[in-house]
Amino acid sequence: MADKHFLHGADYNPEQWMKHKAAVWQEDMRRAKEAGINELSVGIFSWAFLEPEDGVYDFTWLDEVMDLLAANGMKAILATPSGSRPPWMAEKYPSVLRMDNERKPYVYGARHNACYSSPDFRRKVTEINTRLAQRYANHPALYMWHVSNEYNYECHCPRCQKAFQAWLKERYGTIDELNDSWWNTFWSHRFSSFAQVESPTTPSFLGEWESPNHNLAWRRFCSDHLADFFQLECEPLRKYTPNIPVTANLMHTFPGIDYFELGRRMDVVSWDNYPRWKNDERDRDISEWTGFRHDLMRGTGGQKPFLMMESCPGAVNWDDVNTLPPPGTVLYQSLQAIAHGSDSVQYFQFRAGRGGSEQFHGSVLPPDGSTDNRAFREVCEVSDALCRIAPVCGSRTRNRVALVYDWHARWALDYAWTAHRFHQKYEETVQSHHAALCRAGYGVDLIDQKSDLTPYRAVIAPMVFLLREGFAEKLTAFAEAGGLVYLSYMSGYVDEEDLRFITQPPLEALTGVRTDELDAWDKGHENHFCWQGREWPIHQVAQLCSLRGAEALAVYERQFYKGMPVLTRNRVGDGVCYTLQARVDTDCLTHVLGGLLREGGIPPLVEHLPEGVTATARYDEDGQQYLFLLNTNREAAQVALPKGYRSLMDGRETNGPVMLDAFSVTVFAAL
Ligand code: GAL
Repeated sequence: MADKHFLHGADYNPEQWMKHKAAVWQEDMRRAKEAGINELSVGIFSWAFLEPEDGVYDFTWLDEVMDLLAANGMKAILATPSGSRPPWMAEKYPSVLRMDNERKPYVYGARHNACYSSPDFRRKVTEINTRLAQRYANHPALYMWHVSNEYNYECHCPRCQKAFQAWLKERYGTIDELNDSWWNTFWSHRFSSFAQVESPTTPSFLGEWESPNHNLAWRRFCSDHLADFFQLECEPLRKYTPNIPVTANLMHTFPGIDYFELGRRMDVVSWDNYPRWKNDERDRDISEWTGFRHDLMRGTGGQKPFLMMESCPGAVNWDDVNTLPPPGTVLYQSLQAIAHGSDSVQYFQFRAGRGGSEQFHGSVLPPDGSTDNRAFREVCEVSDALCRIAPVCGSRTRNRVALVYDWHARWALDYAWTAHRFHQKYEETVQSHHAALCRAGYGVDLIDQKSDLTPYRAVIAPMVFLLREGFAEKLTAFAEAGGLVYLSYMSGYVDEEDLRFITQPPLEALTGVRTDELDAWDKGHENHFCWQGREWPIHQVAQLCSLRGAEALAVYERQFYKGMPVLTRNRVGDGVCYTLQARVDTDCLTHVLGGLLREGGIPPLVEHLPEGVTATARYDEDGQQYLFLLNTNREAAQVALPKGYRSLMDGRETNGPVMLDAFSVTVFAAL
């Protein structure tokens, strides 16, 4: 077996220590090795030192850093610096500054706010990326490219308006096609040329903010425009270093970019994980949210191992209240990432700076470089654990249950004038389904509507409000071939263009139900249904439907729709399609989804997990299974393992009940 080891690293900003480099840089290398760190991400915000004046480059300091890394056996994840620009650039090329939705230009400052249509910015980025790629192509430390930092994009400047109009022309061909696709006869909004179409001013009321179709098109444009910019950044990297993988660090459910699309353009997906641990019973929920985000990020990378590019080895400093995570949390959050498919544990940042807005952010080393502190000790502990579980590195998940999270469905819901107009809770709803599946003992793959369904036995699709081209047909074929499909309320309302259907809605034959009406409320409106001997409360949303071939497994117990179906089953070919017509809590979903999957002959990874314990599994190329048990309880928990396992933590073999430490992740190899 090849020598396997996880990446264990951190963001590192040696240029902030230029004045003290004689004392600091060598010491940093020593400390990093002491902590078991084998990778440092450099150059992320280094533009001012790489190009101090327009066209004047200085790579000597980065040469020294790269050489130091190589000499110390460390890998470099080298960043392109576009996440932040030096002030001279804004002064000389004001087009690099964005314009906000109210058409006000930004002034220089902060970061992550360049205009991606600016020809000057595009040229400067291409130039510096080319120089970086040419210079370090054969450097022994170069391991991976880290493109920019936490990309986001929304700029309303005149150039971006033009780019939007060109994108619209490409998509719709003629202005009449656009008008029809957006239902623009409504309020006399028919455009007579693409030049009249401006970006929406949402959330400001200055211009267009109400049209769902127009808003959706803008979201899609922004996402595509950003993906094109990513492509532009990658061109020189791929040209001069074709064998060096490229990543960009993502932000889990960030609404502005279709991460599945962006992920498809990367060699490996990475993301920044900042759970806001509370050191109380809320940590169970926080752990569930974090697990969901890991699974989503793995999904955007096509289920391959991903990288946890950043995490905090202490308390962050940007939250309203910055609670200190108790001892053991760094180890828990690091192993949780591995459990969900990460091949790395990386921190922000290695040595904290003396000033700037992150001077008090948690770090491996404080500014004085001392190691006599908890963060450093906990990082050493993580390093030790990563060595023990090294055989897991590179292994993949093989989950049989897929859960749909789709940015296009989410965007359409964000602008949908129905139900809870300003908070449809898409993200919360998918996360609650994820938590339920995990509580029921299943490992879960997050997919979008374009993903391949063939690896799965069940597809769980909550709130797929907008149906992308071909999804309904794919789901139907999946069920006909024996798959289990589950759809929730508010699914299949509109087509790819966000238009309602005038022929039979595509999901009707699959679900065997017809959606008639939709009820939404906040408080003071009681309803529930009874299933398997229990009463399950309903919250906030109830869809009223009539049966068109399906059978009702449960009905509403209150309101004027008492007796109407709420849980339905439709036999389709060799498979089955269930619908749940109302919003319920995670406990109910655990019971319902767990019950339906077991009834469908789809076994969980581990049966009868105690409350607060979840399981995940990874498999190496020889089929060796690694099982992870995550105990989020603040006390020990006992689990009965389904067969013989050896703990990778202490080498002990076990067959039957095992005790899990409080707030811990235990890793086993199947015997
Ligand atoms: C991340 C960002 C880092 C750093 C960190 C602090 O979102 O990528 O550069 O700012 O937050 O938590």
